[in-house]
Amino acid sequence: MEFDMMNLMMKRRSVRKFKEEKPSDEIIQKIVQAGLLAPTSKNNKSVEFIVVDDKDTILKLKDCRSIGTIGLETAPCAIVVFADSQKSDVWVEDASIAASYMQLRAEDLGLSSVWIQMRNRTNENGSSENEVRRVLNIPEKYGVLCIIALGKKNENIKAYTENDIDKSRVHYG
Ligand SMILES: Cc1cc2nc3c(=O)[nH]c(=O)nc-3n(C[C@H](O)[C@H](O)[C@H](O)COP(=O)(O)O)c2cc1C
Repeated sequence: MEFDMMNLMMKRRSVRKFKEEKPSDEIIQKIVQAGLLAPTSKNNKSVEFIVVDDKDTILKLKDCRSIGTIGLETAPCAIVVFADSQKSDVWVEDASIAASYMQLRAEDLGLSSVWIQMRNRTNENGSSENEVRRVLNIPEKYGVLCIIALGKKNENIKAYTENDIDKSRVHYG
């Protein structure tokens, strides 16, 4: 069957409950390669990733933020998306595109995911970004955007249909 990009984008939904089974190294490689292919401003390649599949570390990452992290509770794999803020003044944009590319590639490979925001978020100790940097020993100059929780879905979330596309948000002329 011909590859259908629109179908892939309609199928991708945020999933927050995962099966235990870890994605294979081969699949993870394919997903991070999509992130590495994502465009960056001035082609500065400011974005980096840490793949985490150790359960204790994933749960430590979950605690870096007080709310909104339920997807990390069961995720067998998490990809931390961060970028060198000294390399790029638009590292947030660079990292966002990379994260989105990886979410779409994950869907393409039969996995589900959810974006867990860390930038501009907090836990009881303060900034979630600082907390993630502390847990993973990421140097200060890197901004931490988000963590992509990843795995096989263990909940049923309906794909989007044509009816979900709100065309009134597009303006012409
Ligand atoms: C910038 C951004 C931040 C998000 N942060 C979180 C988050 O912290 N926790 C979470 O569970 N989902 C988060 N999401 C997922 C959104 O809630 C989700 O994409 C939205 O509700 C639409 O649902 P869909 O992804 O199934 O289309 C985030 C998504 C984006 C793009």
